[in-house]
Amino acid sequence: MNVRIAPSILAADFGRFAEEVQAVLEAGADWIHIDVMDGSFVPNLTMGPGVVEALRKRFSCVLDVHLMVDRPERHIDMFVEAGADLISVHAEATPHIHRAVQHIRHRGVKAGLAVNPGTGLDVVREMASDIDMLLLMTVNPGFGGQPFLNSVLSKIERARQMLDQLGRADVPIEVDGGIGPKTIGPAHRAGAEIFVAGSSVFGATDYRAAIAALRENASQTP
Ligand code: DX5
Ligand code: ZN
Repeated sequence: MNVRIAPSILAADFGRFAEEVQAVLEAGADWIHIDVMDGSFVPNLTMGPGVVEALRKRFSCVLDVHLMVDRPERHIDMFVEAGADLISVHAEATPHIHRAVQHIRHRGVKAGLAVNPGTGLDVVREMASDIDMLLLMTVNPGFGGQPFLNSVLSKIERARQMLDQLGRADVPIEVDGGIGPKTIGPAHRAGAEIFVAGSSVFGATDYRAAIAALRENASQTP
């Protein structure tokens, strides 16, 4: 499995935003993860399509947009037009998750299905043929810097098996929350291949060393 590291700009220094993004890209980041929070689906408020648009103008990397908002279908067009490459929507945030995912794909953007720690995998079974990525939350979304929930490891394994059995071995699993040098190995062995990392990258003094350590630890045998 191809390990990809997606630093979450939620943990960046907002006063030096573009510089921070440039720095993690130069340090070896594969994608840039953008956490959109609406103060309703999750308690925190963060950024909107304007941030995606500004980043798109400046950088050509994959912009991985994670919508932690209620009824995400209301906002998909704005993020598509802002230049997102991939948009993930939460199964818990809308009664019309299938329509939301379909809408993203119809607009020519890759669609991720995001699932909270307490949500079962039934929705993954139903949605498997319609998604480009599965985003399994390894913390309860809302804030950076929370500890990784070890209980999600068996769920990552089950999700990987389920996708493989349903003929979707091509759908990668992204994990988000509490990913650092100690947790990336177990998450990778369980079946994740895209790793969102906020505090473990932006909290480090040397971004290049932090990303290299993540990559190295992902592939190490325990
Ligand atoms: C959780 C967000 C995460 C978060 C990750 O609500 O979706 O992307 O910023 O941050 P760390 O890596 O600090 O847990
Ligand atoms: Zn996220």
